[in-house]
Formats: sequence, C-alpha cells, structure tokens
Amino acid sequence: MSIEVKNLSRRFGNFRALDNVSLHIETGELVALLGPSGCGKTTLLRIIAGLETADSGSVLFSGEDATGVDVRHRRVGFVFQHYALFKHMTVFENVAFGLRVMRRSERPSEARIRAKVHELLNLVQLDWLADRYPAQLSGGQRQRIALARALAVEPQVLLLDEPFGALDAKVRKELRRWLRRLHDELHVASVFVTHDQEEALEVADRVVLMNAGHVEQVGTPREVWEHPATPFVYGFLGDVNQVAGHVNDGIWQAHGIELPAPELHGARQQEAVAYVRPHEIDLARNDGGGQGIPVRLRHVYLAGPSAYLELERQDRQDMIEAQVPEQLYRELQLKEGESLLARPRRARVFASA
Ligand SMILES: Nc1ncnc2c1ncn2[C@@H]1O[C@H](COP(=O)(O)OP(=O)(O)OP(=O)(O)O)[C@@H](O)[C@H]1O
Ligand SMILES: [Mg+2]
Repeated sequence: MSIEVKNLSRRFGNFRALDNVSLHIETGELVALLGPSGCGKTTLLRIIAGLETADSGSVLFSGEDATGVDVRHRRVGFVFQHYALFKHMTVFENVAFGLRVMRRSERPSEARIRAKVHELLNLVQLDWLADRYPAQLSGGQRQRIALARALAVEPQVLLLDEPFGALDAKVRKELRRWLRRLHDELHVASVFVTHDQEEALEVADRVVLMNAGHVEQVGTPREVWEHPATPFVYGFLGDVNQVAGHVNDGIWQAHGIELPAPELHGARQQEAVAYVRPHEIDLARNDGGGQGIPVRLRHVYLAGPSAYLELERQDRQDMIEAQVPEQLYRELQLKEGESLLARPRRARVFASA
C-alpha cells in the first residue's frame, strides 16, 4: 500500500508543528524521516497513523483518502520509541494481543492465533522467548517483540518512531540491518524516524530531511549527501565549517583562496558562505605571508586512521574543525598552540541569507 501525504499542516496553539508537508512513499519503500528534535517527525507519523488529526491537508493510502478512517481500520503497524510491552503478559500474549482484541467476526481461531504468533516470533528470531515476561528481556529483544506485535495485524504500512533509540550503537546497527531485511521480505511501505543520520543513510531507500515543520529535501541517501539542497541539510548531514567570503562570476574568494561556486555563476560581489567538510581542509605552517585562514591548533584527538584537529581562528572568534590522515599529522609534527593556515580545498557555496 502506498502512502501519500498532501499539504499537511498542524498547529499547536500558535506554533506550527507541520507546515504544508507533502510526501509520497511507494509500496516496498523504506523511508527515513530525519531532522532535529522538535521538527515535527512524530507529529507527522501520528497523523499518518491516524492517532492525530491535521488542520488541513490529507493522507491517502493507495490513492484513497484515509482522513476519516479510524486508526483500527488503517492496517497500520506502529512502534514508538518508548513503546512499552504489557508487563504482566508473556511475550507470546503480547504478540497475540492485537489478534485477541479483534471483533469476534474477524478474530482468528485459537489454533490460528497460536500458529500466527509463533510464525511472527520466528520472523523476529525470538521464538525461544515466548514464555518469558518483558522484564526478562534485553532492550533489543523488547524492541523486536514490539515489532512482532505491530506485525500481528498484517499491516500494509509500518511506522516506526525511533524504534532503536534507547539502544547502544552496536545493537542498533544489528537491528537496523535486520529491519531492512524484514522490510524487504514483507514488502510494505515503511517510514522510520531517527535523528541518527548514519542510521538513515545506511538503511533507507530515501531520506526525508525535516526542519522546523517543513521538508527541506527528499532524496536517496547518495543524493542528499552529495547534493544537499540547502545550508541546513549540508550542516545537518555531517560536520561542516562555514567560511564567509564573496563570489564573483562563479568564483568564491576569501583569505587569498579561490574556489569554484558554479551555483552562483552570475553573481557580482555577492556575499557568500563556503561550507567546508573537515576532511576538505588542508593545513600549512604559518610563517607569514601565506594564503589561508590563520588559525591556532587548540586540540588534537586521534581516532583510527584520522587525526581530528580543533583550530581556533585568529582573525575572528570561531573554530574550524579539520580531519587529516593520521600519517600526515605525524609527518607535519604539529604541536598544540602552533600557528597554522587552514585552506579549504573544496566547498559548497551558498549565498548569504
Ligand atoms: N500535543 C502537543 N501540544 C503542544 N505542542 C506539541 C504537541 N505535540 C507536539 N508539540 C510540539 O510540536 C513540535 C513538534 O513535535 P514532534 O514531537 O513532532 O517533534 P519531533 O520531530 O518528533 O522531535 P523529537 O526528535 O524530539 O522526538 C514540538 O515543538 C512540540 O513541542
Ligand atoms: Mg519524536
């Protein structure tokens, strides 16, 4: 079942939580909703689920308006970040719950329920835990049981609000790969909220970047990573330094450095900011007269193959972060407190607001 969100808006008092949001999700597609805290991700998911209403706009499931359809009839499975399992019920009974509360006319037989629950527990690879209680499970196991419970009613749409939020990095990684496989097997339309950009880029077919109630960009992980549409997206996906300068005829210039800015090819003396990733910065010793941004090396930390340098700008109050190969860092024999020149090698240039 495909999901279409059309011009959704939602206010809470005077606050615009969602501002004219439109989105299309195909059957079989896994879409990640990514954005800072408070940008409206949960609100959007709740409106799609039917747990919340919009002020205007509509939600269509396979082309049919679902706005007036009750949440129980939407065939939507959801898992929320702090989705508690029923403590007094075994794992088996938790998963069976959605089937047992069905209307008598639709409810499967007891034998059918048993078969179905074991099938689901096998799917999440936890059948051996059927008789345990939630308190006897690890966090990751609980999340998988919550997912099995959501799947019991055979949803055609799966909505997951930070399903792995509370877990440690290693378990998250395992679970998100597992989620990807499960999603592919079920062939549903899934939307999953995260504020972990790595998680979104790794598992999603497409990423929706939200900011302050609106959609900034929608694209494949590669598209949004390589061609961020706005300064917000650029800054949100990974660390970035901002260096103010001017653009003339498609060339950005500052501190004696020139970089191509093809997006602004017609501009004249246009104020513009170069967005530079830490690994796009070259460093040189500052023995006077060279080109580049004068900085002082404040702090270095070494992690794996890279050295991360915190550089304090000497021309204004600001920091620059640089990432250089560890070997280069050793060869340069840099010392903390030393004066250097930071030279952006490449950048994405946006006109100043
Ligand atoms: N019932 C409500 N009443 C008033 N304001 C609300 C309500 N629900 C959400 N909001 C506000 O709407 C905005 C969006 O909330 P939402 O929960 O959708 O954000 P989010 O993107 O899911 O954030 P997080 O990443 O922190 O979960 C927030 O500023 C929030 O305070
Ligand atoms: Mg939320």
